[in-house]
Amino acid sequence: MDKIFIEGQQTLSGSVQISGAKNAVLPIMTAALMAEGRSVVTRVPDLRDTRTMIRLMEIVGATCSFENGKLSIDGSTVNNPEAPYDLVKTMRASFYVLGPLLARFGVVKVSLPGGCAWGPRPVDFHLKGLEKLGAKITLESGYIIAEAKRLQGTKINFEFPSVGATGNIAMAAATAEGTTIIENAAREPEIVQLCEYLNTMGACIRGIGTTRLTIDGVETLHSADIDVIPDRIEAGTFLAAGALLGEITLNGVIPEHLDSVILNFKEVGCNVSTTSNSVTIAQADKIQPVDMTTAVYPGFPTDLQAQWVALMTLAKGSSMITDTVYHDRFSHVPELNRFGANIKVENNTAFVRGVDALVGAPVMSTDIRASASLIVAGLAAKGRTEISRVYHIDRGYEQIEEKFRSLGANIWRKNPIV
Ligand code: UD1
Repeated sequence: MDKIFIEGQQTLSGSVQISGAKNAVLPIMTAALMAEGRSVVTRVPDLRDTRTMIRLMEIVGATCSFENGKLSIDGSTVNNPEAPYDLVKTMRASFYVLGPLLARFGVVKVSLPGGCAWGPRPVDFHLKGLEKLGAKITLESGYIIAEAKRLQGTKINFEFPSVGATGNIAMAAATAEGTTIIENAAREPEIVQLCEYLNTMGACIRGIGTTRLTIDGVETLHSADIDVIPDRIEAGTFLAAGALLGEITLNGVIPEHLDSVILNFKEVGCNVSTTSNSVTIAQADKIQPVDMTTAVYPGFPTDLQAQWVALMTLAKGSSMITDTVYHDRFSHVPELNRFGANIKVENNTAFVRGVDALVGAPVMSTDIRASASLIVAGLAAKGRTEISRVYHIDRGYEQIEEKFRSLGANIWRKNPIV
């Protein structure tokens, strides 16, 4: 299995292109299943998760081709509304086929996702929402079976503005009979783009970007093309490295999507400037400790919590980082402590006491964003870091070593068996 090696403390400089957003492209791909016809999606990041979703598209019968960031999905041939355990267990976002395939076929069978490295991650909001739309839901041998001749518009009030449930229900409701209102909807840019895409396909969704979505059901959707928004989480990961190691520019971003993140980097002492489509960050002389609490958009994203903890390990003082979205998401902490960091976790808060330096160490990836925090720490640490289980990184980061190498980092990948 591949490992990533880093010889740390190299100064970073130059610019890097940010890829399309993983969390935007995955639901867009499943939305394309709702139409008969060929949809072309551009700026698609070549990630393990994208490839897994393409496999799932093909299993349900879609015809796909993927080359140079351009993905074509033909939904005309879709004929098998079933997402098997083998795929769902490797990528929970497979659950995004639930709403679209139910809407199109009146029946869908999707493996129930299990827990994951950061807690139980239930899907009850998705299922309750579909039930409210009139679906009959049963559980059979680990699979959710949802059935409905035609879904019926209704009012749904989410207990929490879940990204996945908002996306799934918006897709299902797009072709329901009558109007659906989703209260407490997620407002993440990836959900905004999904709703805008559905509208391009012929859906009628109002209130996009607010907590109240109004969806007037239409008979059918047609295929449509779309260019995926840039990945704000990949961008935030590069900002964390820039804050510690030099001056770098991220191109092809939407700075507005990073507003709360940029604010925090400024508080740390970094110089951050933006243009309409780029962000430049210059290393802080001294990393100031900044407490941070994750929140739903427009708050600080939970997907950057691990990278923030990595940054704070080198702050001149103590900080508290609380995750209100995923309470158990701290598997990176024991690994970061292997670099000599001083972090303790109590409930959903990491207490970080800044240290003078990190020292490279062998560490292990546990999930996508935890892995990213290990790369940030490894880049800043003295000496060599060896990261194993890097398939987690490949799920969500496109060419991460190449990108960091182009900025001056000494980072490479090796398969120790070859
Ligand atoms: C998505 C992102 C993930 C990100 C997360 C929060 C994708 C593919 N993944 O995950 O990277 O970290 O948003 O921004 O876009 N919840 C329930 N019941 C449900 C659904 C969610 O209790 O049915 C809870 C979760 O346990 C969690 C919170 O709601 O505590 C938020 O989860 P949600 O927004 O649904 O995350 P995902 O869509 O799974």
